[in-house]
Amino acid sequence: MGVVMGELRGTHVPVLLERCLELLAPALRLPGAVHVDFTLGLGGHAEAVLERFPEVLLVGLDRDTEALAHSRHRLARFGERARLVHAVYDELPRVLDELDLASYHSGLFDLGVSSLQLDEADRGFAYAQDAPLDMRMDQTSGITAEQVVNEYEPGALVRILRTYGEEKFAPRIVSSIVRERQKGRITSTARLAELVKESIPAAARRTGGNPAKRTFQALRIEVNGELATLEAAMPAALDALAVKGRLVVMSYQSLEDRIVKRALTARTRSTGPVDLPVELPGTGPTLRLLTRGSEPPSEQEVADNPRAASVKLRAVERLDRHETPGAARERPRLSTTHGGQGRLRPGEREEGEGEA
Ligand SMILES: C[S@@+](CC[C@H](N)C(=O)[O-])C[C@H]1O[C@@H](n2cnc3c(N)ncnc32)[C@H](O)[C@@H]1O
Repeated sequence: MGVVMGELRGTHVPVLLERCLELLAPALRLPGAVHVDFTLGLGGHAEAVLERFPEVLLVGLDRDTEALAHSRHRLARFGERARLVHAVYDELPRVLDELDLASYHSGLFDLGVSSLQLDEADRGFAYAQDAPLDMRMDQTSGITAEQVVNEYEPGALVRILRTYGEEKFAPRIVSSIVRERQKGRITSTARLAELVKESIPAAARRTGGNPAKRTFQALRIEVNGELATLEAAMPAALDALAVKGRLVVMSYQSLEDRIVKRALTARTRSTGPVDLPVELPGTGPTLRLLTRGSEPPSEQEVADNPRAASVKLRAVERLDRHETPGAARERPRLSTTHGGQGRLRPGEREEGEGEA
């Protein structure tokens, strides 16, 4: 452990940085703008916001104390403009309250693990390096991957590998784990990666990269309660977004993206009676989609930054319910409005549904 402060600076390229700033710019230029970086990490996106929008106040959250320490060092020159808080991102309402802020104007979720977590061998996230089986983003609390692997019932382990890792050989992998743990505790990432590899049929081993990848992803999601936290965080983040405020979310796997898509699109639709041709006051959409479905990275972005390969970016702007349709304005039909405003009618496809 122990990152020498500053040593990682420049080794990490923030994903889709220019696109994020372009989408957030109108909100970052609002008077008194507050930008919340829900996943501060090494502070790459946050630093660019502070540099290019000199009036903006940053609230940076991370559950990883090591990431926070690194960002504190990196952003020190911005003084009071950077308020960094050790918090899980669904705790935003408490954090804003403590900072005496009623809302925020611009927000970014860059989900997943940071390069610090992957590169620091002793964190146990990387299947390619031998380390204790930890995988906690917040090393100050919670259960470790070692506890999950050695102490969970086999049935629960199979469900986790299947659901969070989409691992079709989950029962075979779990049988090997159970056999192994009868001999002694499984304590290292290398041993677990080896067990996974041995459990998978030889033909399947030849395709699809390292066979341990899906198991490691599943354990990481379980250890950090990632999906439940995201489910709780999205509505909390949208509730606190100021009118004309903008939020960008980048996810790296389909389970996360599905949660994000549902939370965002739900608020782009009317909550009024479906058969009324006009919108009743207070029932109009509260969000406008700024991206069509999820935006993939460009080829250039992936070439420059391999971490961007699986990214799915979605962005929204908060509408003012009082400005939007009163009884006098006609309800927009989904099929004619790019961005999916308006309620789905029978037979209409949910915006972005069915995308990879
Ligand atoms: C991909 S990194 C962010 C990188 C960052 N955008 C940058 O430019 O350096 C994701 C970060 O989010 C943090 N994180 C993940 N889940 C979190 C949660 N539920 N609450 C707070 N932070 C979280 C991780 O600890 C990690 O540092």
